[in-house]
Amino acid sequence: MSVFDEPPLRNDLRGRTPYGAPQLDVAVRLNTNENPYQLPDAVGDSVAKTLHGLLRDLNRYPDRDALALREDLATYLDCGLSSANVWAANGSNEVQQQLLQAFGGPGRTAMGFSPSYSMHPLLAMGTGTRWLESRRNANFELTREHAMAQVRVYQPDVVFLCSPNNPTGGSIGLDVIEAVAAEAPGMVIVDEAYAEFARSGSRSALALVPRYPRLVVTRTMSKAFAFAGVRVGYMAAHPAVVEAVQLVRLPYHLSSLAQAAARAALPHAPALLAQVEAIKDQRDRIVAALRELGLIVPDSDANFVLFGQFKDQTSVWQALLDHGVLVRDVGLSGWLRVTAGTPEETDTFLSAMGDLPHGA
Ligand SMILES: Cc1ncc(COP(=O)(O)O)c(C=O)c1O
Repeated sequence: MSVFDEPPLRNDLRGRTPYGAPQLDVAVRLNTNENPYQLPDAVGDSVAKTLHGLLRDLNRYPDRDALALREDLATYLDCGLSSANVWAANGSNEVQQQLLQAFGGPGRTAMGFSPSYSMHPLLAMGTGTRWLESRRNANFELTREHAMAQVRVYQPDVVFLCSPNNPTGGSIGLDVIEAVAAEAPGMVIVDEAYAEFARSGSRSALALVPRYPRLVVTRTMSKAFAFAGVRVGYMAAHPAVVEAVQLVRLPYHLSSLAQAAARAALPHAPALLAQVEAIKDQRDRIVAALRELGLIVPDSDANFVLFGQFKDQTSVWQALLDHGVLVRDVGLSGWLRVTAGTPEETDTFLSAMGDLPHGA
């Protein structure tokens, strides 16, 4: 391509590569924290019936405000919030992007505590929000004192707290979240994409929403609800925050098919959450088995497990791939992340791990 053919890309995007894990055709894919189970038949039937009934109306735009879906999501959350507190979009990524469009942007800053979900800084970049990277401690924990001090010093317009944290797995204590919410001058986004997988005793930040009008909790149907392909994420926040994101959302951003599919699936939450329990069993099994192998494995409240430390995690990643198992190299030196799958997938992963040279 000659220089004349190059599109006039923004300077800050030049030379960058798009986000995304390799989508390889491997027997056991444990690299994107998907739910390994297909929708149960009863859920699939409800979704299919609902979508079929909609087909003739596809000439019409969807409900721009997704009101019925937001009501159903508020009912699912069951924490005293109403549809005025809930907003939905194409995945929680889009919700977070809309939040940054409304509350970040040029001249504003967003802070995160790494290692954490790598999309947060990318969403900041895409919206022209300057990213301030702070760090967790050596055990990947975030202490109240550290988080508060960073927020006090840097005064970010937006703070991201990921709980349970991707890729490390642990939750952030509610006392830490509350302290940050009290200290922060701007918005605090608690990314709870994996909340349904938390171990008992871990508490959601949803309880803080009525008391902190600048605190937002984002959730998703991609993980616990096995709905990643549909793209429905949502947030719970003060109604004024919901009104603010409506200033930046695209008209009709959430298709009628996605809205209807989500509404058809939500009444089946108990059946879907039963699958979550099965996944949590595999997660706990992986944690225990990898520790038995002498590896370091942080506690996990999610559907994945971080494990290390390796001299060279890329060679372990490749060795697992050679055994037909795809895990994620999240770019954290010495560590890999594996998603909890079905019992059979876990068997294959653990047996491959057992075959690796000790301390690989
Ligand atoms: C921490 C975290 N937040 C958000 C998301 C995005 O989920 P969604 O499919 O709702 O966009 C993911 C996906 O892996 C995630 O790990």
